[in-house]
Amino acid sequence: MAQKVGVVGLSGIGTTHSRCYANDDLADLVAVCDLAKERADTLAEQFRVKAYYSLKDMLDDQPDLDIVDVSTGGNENGSWHYEPTMQALEAGKHVLVEKPLSNDIREAREMVAKAEENNLYLGCNLNHHFTPPAERARQYIEDGEVGELVYCLHKMGFAGGERTYQPQDSPRIKGFPYFHMKAFLSHPFSVMRHFCGDVTHVQAFVTRPSFRKSAGDVMLSINGIHVRFANDCIGYLLSQRGDATFGLGGWWSLEVAGTRGTFCVENCIEKITFWRAPGGEDAAKPEDLDVGTSSGPVVTESGITDFGETFPRRIHAFLEDIANNVPKSQLRASGRDALAALEYTWAAMESYEQGGILVRPQPMPPQHAHPS
Ligand SMILES: NC(=O)c1ccc[n+]([C@@H]2O[C@H](COP(=O)([O-])OP(=O)(O)OC[C@H]3O[C@@H](n4cnc5c(N)ncnc54)[C@H](O)[C@@H]3O)[C@@H](O)[C@H]2O)c1
Repeated sequence: MAQKVGVVGLSGIGTTHSRCYANDDLADLVAVCDLAKERADTLAEQFRVKAYYSLKDMLDDQPDLDIVDVSTGGNENGSWHYEPTMQALEAGKHVLVEKPLSNDIREAREMVAKAEENNLYLGCNLNHHFTPPAERARQYIEDGEVGELVYCLHKMGFAGGERTYQPQDSPRIKGFPYFHMKAFLSHPFSVMRHFCGDVTHVQAFVTRPSFRKSAGDVMLSINGIHVRFANDCIGYLLSQRGDATFGLGGWWSLEVAGTRGTFCVENCIEKITFWRAPGGEDAAKPEDLDVGTSSGPVVTESGITDFGETFPRRIHAFLEDIANNVPKSQLRASGRDALAALEYTWAAMESYEQGGILVRPQPMPPQHAHPS
């Protein structure tokens, strides 16, 4: 049966989410809500659903709602997530919240704890996991074709440079040194964890280019972060916010290498290439390999170039998991997964503040199956 959904926060992203639910057979979009009346009214008319101007009114008036989608933003893109998420969880609704879970780590921890306490699904829009290349990559790992993980190199950010830089006037961005780290690193950190598991050690070098400095822009927009995973794989994340243009792999590339093979995802949703380590079937013979050569690559193009395709795919997965009543611990791209990424972000900020020291991120709280 289709899940009844209400969406809160109806700017660009809330509009996209509303459209995804309206087009998905597993959802019945019944309500939209924004403090800005005209936004709520416009979308209500577009999707022929009821408009609300406060979440409390929506929850009181729609007791049968199954899911509240929190697409609000706020300072550092996350300060308006906690309150509506907690309100919806307290009302017994499942929640899909945009990333980052919050711009405050204590709030994020509380949100995850509240969902567990009330035995509800809390998902996060970690939409970058829901692409054909990411699915193929997971398959390579699960089929044992990557082997023991050796390294993980991830570049994700925004293209730009000194010729395109515009100082930010938005009060939600301007003056926040950690805007990029708090608002964005949930994506790359969660992608790295999705493939390589929990991170136990973080060391960060964080800076900004001279054109930002001379404009009085405090955003620490260049992040080089070295990590170690619990399984002993090592990794590196390079993220920046439009200070340079990325080279090979485009705005989003992930190379994961193992003892049996290596894959590289390019441009998030577009393409995955796989190289078998020498010596196996269909791979280069060790005796034929000179220094600097490797096995011929297997390239799989998804045929998709629009990043926007990640939204309906991710939202459908959330609806599917709820329809299938999966154990809360197996929810894909859960609040807990998003919290882990945020713990790594906070560890990176601490490392930077302490001059690049090695920091151990706070481990995830234990998970207890709900008595029911
Ligand atoms: N996953 C992705 O790929 C992706 C991409 C871009 C943005 N985002 C995230 O999407 C979120 C939303 O971004 P945006 O640019 O659309 O946001 P925005 O800040 O422009 O708009 C948020 C809307 O929420 C409303 N709002 C705030 N608090 C409310 C409340 N308590 N009740 C009702 N309405 C409320 C505001 O009036 C506003 O219309 C951000 O958290 C951002 O990080 C995610």
